[in-house]
Amino acid sequence: MSNKKLSGEVYFPSEKVIENAHIKDRDDLDNRARKDYSGFWSEMANELHWFQKWDKVIDDSDKPFYKWFTGAKTNIVYNCLDVHVKTFRRNKLALIWEGENGESKTMSYFALHRETCKFANVLKSMGVQKGDRVTIYMGRTPEIIIAMLACARIGAVHSVVYGGFSVESLAERIEDSNSKVLIVSDGAYQRGKIVPLKQIADEALQRCGTVEHCLVVKRTGQEINMEQGRDMWYHELMNLPIATQNSALEIVDSEDPLFILYTSGTTGKPKAILHTHGGYMVGTYATLKYVFDIHEEDRYWCAADPGWITGHSYIVYAPLLNGTTSFLYEGAPNFPYPNRWWAMIEKYGINILYTAPTAIRGLMRFGESWVNRHDLSSLRLLGSVGEPINPEAWKWYHRVVGKEKCPIMDTWWQTETGMFMITPMPCVPLKPGSGTKPFPGIEMDIVDESGKSVKANEEGFLIIKTPWPAMIRTVYKDDERYVSQYWSKYPGVYLTGDSARRDEDGYFWIIGRVDDVIKVSGYRLGTAEIESALVSHHSVAEAAAIGLPHEIKGNAIYTYVILKSGIEKSQQLIEELRQHVSHEVGPIAKPEHIEFVDSLPKTRSGKIMRRVLKARALGQDPGNISTLEE
Ligand code: PRX
Repeated sequence: MSNKKLSGEVYFPSEKVIENAHIKDRDDLDNRARKDYSGFWSEMANELHWFQKWDKVIDDSDKPFYKWFTGAKTNIVYNCLDVHVKTFRRNKLALIWEGENGESKTMSYFALHRETCKFANVLKSMGVQKGDRVTIYMGRTPEIIIAMLACARIGAVHSVVYGGFSVESLAERIEDSNSKVLIVSDGAYQRGKIVPLKQIADEALQRCGTVEHCLVVKRTGQEINMEQGRDMWYHELMNLPIATQNSALEIVDSEDPLFILYTSGTTGKPKAILHTHGGYMVGTYATLKYVFDIHEEDRYWCAADPGWITGHSYIVYAPLLNGTTSFLYEGAPNFPYPNRWWAMIEKYGINILYTAPTAIRGLMRFGESWVNRHDLSSLRLLGSVGEPINPEAWKWYHRVVGKEKCPIMDTWWQTETGMFMITPMPCVPLKPGSGTKPFPGIEMDIVDESGKSVKANEEGFLIIKTPWPAMIRTVYKDDERYVSQYWSKYPGVYLTGDSARRDEDGYFWIIGRVDDVIKVSGYRLGTAEIESALVSHHSVAEAAAIGLPHEIKGNAIYTYVILKSGIEKSQQLIEELRQHVSHEVGPIAKPEHIEFVDSLPKTRSGKIMRRVLKARALGQDPGNISTLEE
């Protein structure tokens, strides 16, 4: 580590933390990775099993369609399960699960392997083949993990839709992915209530015609509709003779697709980000190992949802690749009381907690006595992801939860990056609110409109200059959008869509999105999705959505609506519109505020100028409005 004095408020790691860490000097690792980037990643890859090794680590012959570990044969699930079942980890817990209603379950690596193989054989028997897309729409139970792994095991491509999305979001994702199989649960417990997932799915299936088989996991047990010939119970299928424990493993090419995951972008419909087996496996494995410093005896808890990239990479794949024990919790953090999380950390002896700033701010508001009634001494490391963490929340997390001994890994990354990109490691001095620097070997910069690096502490566009193994391969079915969205503003470099600044010590500070993406409670939503849901209501002519700062959620959704002529404005209509968005997109997209207006600020070409709406709402100067039409 360089001895240069760091500016601002700095938290240095204790000697004990450094002593236990895999990496004791990040600069050293960074230098090594920069000197021999391919060598660095091939060293990481060599810690995993391959049926056949690669010809090339990075193939950049068709930029920006980078390929990793070309020529290699593998299957990520083989490394997640089979490898461990052959070792002492066979009987180690892979998963500890607690339901919101207090039920619990544990699964060893042996058991998770068995259930995955069984379900893989069920899927095969239904005709699911390599390359086929399967949509998964479930709550946080072990079966969602089994379903994802079973798909990947047979080379099918899973498309998980977060259980907080609703009818139209689900329908559009099923249709776009052309999934013939949907795996769903009857419901999920959330804040003591049941989210009727199967009922939502039924409605979605009426809007899209691709699904032939719908497999239903019984979680809540309420009465649901089961359509004959289409719907089948998971537990019944898993008891049939077809559900053998035969391996059912498809050996795939490193670059074969592993999953697609829909996310919101600048314009139009959500796009499906495509990730592949080989590079994604190596990238997520190595980043989790070094950043959360995984040790054999750890109990690790990533409190995200498997339905988002954080869950894909750091609940499902990376922890299993590392052979660690993960905890999964079904419900809300404050149910039935605000001590729920802290009680579970104590009960299960969790060592690592990885969550989002919004959750920290939400729990902080209940006061520290809820935390202090529990023994959290098992905690060793903390993590944050999804949005910038305000220093106040960082310090509370550090002091009250981590008792000033747990370093906080503030990890910046995206659905598209697949793995941590800007992140500390336990040995790195921390500044509250900064994710410190890029992962070893990865070159990132902050540039102005013309692509020139900005000076220290100046704001600019955050870009990535080196390819990385878990990178997005393309936008599913839309190579053009992949190129135009990410690689066109500055040829040869990846545009993140975020703005940031870098301080005099080279530490990165994320400011926020510069496009039409709104981060609400860490969830990524597009203004277009919210607007099109509003416009799909019979009384709405036009709508605009923006994000405005919110104390707990980070951003809240504000919308401006032009009603069709003859429609009366009323409080009742506002509530109806909010419910409509919730029903179509999901409760996470429900606008905080709806205002009826007679016109919207637009450019002469008809584009809504959200920037002007935002400035008006915040009472700020809207800046350059020369393109404003009216
Ligand atoms: O704006 C950044 C923010 O989340 C965006 C990516 O969202 P998504 O694809 O849903 O993935 C979220 C989880 C990886 C980024 O463009 N973001 C993510 N992590 C951080 C962050 N902003 C600040 N600090 C972070 N640690």
